[in-house]
Amino acid sequence: MLSSLKKQPADRIIGLSALYNADPRDTKIDLGVGVYKDASGNTPIMRAIKTAEQRLWNEETTKTYTAMIGDGGFHNAMADLILADSVDRSRVSYCATPGGTGAVHHVLEVVKMTGTGATVWFSDPTWGNHLSIAKHVDVPVAKYAYFDTEARAVNFDGMMSDLQNVASGDVVVLHGCCHNPTGANLNETQWRQVADLLLEKGAIPFIDIAYQGFGDGLEEDAFGTRLLASMFPEMFIAASCSKNFGIYRERCGLILAISADADISAITQGNLSYVNRQNFSFPPDHGARLVTMVLTDPELRADWTAELEEVRLGMLNARRKLADALRAECGSDRFGFLAEHRGMFSRIGATEAQVDQLREDHGIYMVFDGRLNIAGVRVDKIETIAKAIIAVGI
Ligand code: LMR
Repeated sequence: MLSSLKKQPADRIIGLSALYNADPRDTKIDLGVGVYKDASGNTPIMRAIKTAEQRLWNEETTKTYTAMIGDGGFHNAMADLILADSVDRSRVSYCATPGGTGAVHHVLEVVKMTGTGATVWFSDPTWGNHLSIAKHVDVPVAKYAYFDTEARAVNFDGMMSDLQNVASGDVVVLHGCCHNPTGANLNETQWRQVADLLLEKGAIPFIDIAYQGFGDGLEEDAFGTRLLASMFPEMFIAASCSKNFGIYRERCGLILAISADADISAITQGNLSYVNRQNFSFPPDHGARLVTMVLTDPELRADWTAELEEVRLGMLNARRKLADALRAECGSDRFGFLAEHRGMFSRIGATEAQVDQLREDHGIYMVFDGRLNIAGVRVDKIETIAKAIIAVGI
């Protein structure tokens, strides 16, 4: 039987880490997978998370099952963080999932379960795994223009023009902040225009928010999500705690689904629970418990917020310094967009051949589509990176 399986393509982001690890050069630089690294190249455990883990070790008295949808304290703490008071909570249903990826998968599965045949629209480009999961779940997919590859900025006219073709009941995936892979984001006026258009079309927004606090700040990064939550009768949110709590391997994420009223919300809730049960029963709990403790204990929360802000400002600093170094190397401002982009990533406009050359000749690893992880840029390596980028002709 197993001999009839077809070979699956390796994941092009995660596969890169294996290549990097196997590279013997001690000068190699990893700008691939979206993981934050500090000045010495480590991915630290955040201080508040470490304290919460110690506390949990002392306080936790049982490892019995939680609810099928995860712990209510986690749902509420995350809803406060993401939604604030943008929507009446009686309309929100919840589901803890293994990471933001688990949430994306489950939302698409629920879309499929509605039997409406809704098309799911993704930005072009989007996180590669979005499309791969949609294919796996087998939902119809469409793409809307998003990125102006020349200007390395949002192609807003193209986006609005493509979204005119959305049919009533279609699902439109939007990155809540820190667009992956481009780093180019909607401003507040553009969010409002997109929201108005999608409302007029009768679309259902699906926000993937994986980097809250990495862009312009915790509150600022939730702007679009909260705006849409306040306007739409129905909406999905897939959230990840991997990056902003630094708990990647704990697999901690959740779905927040907004229904038109409390009665429908109860049915949505039952479906979310069903989807967890069919896939793996109970979601992971350890990361969710740490996040809940950090968000609900004022001291831990203040410490987490402060450390997250250090991370955010560190990335902004790396953006400016890299843009400056590139200006010095090439004598023009054509990499100025790096300082304008937000979040972990920027798509720098490299061809796949240039990406290969960066890896082979300079030991610099970035994703095949020219996505650079700014959180992997160490300040002491900026000049080396800038020289290599210009040397391969980007
Ligand atoms: C990324 O885009 O690099 C991260 O979201 C990690 C992943 O799972 O792809």
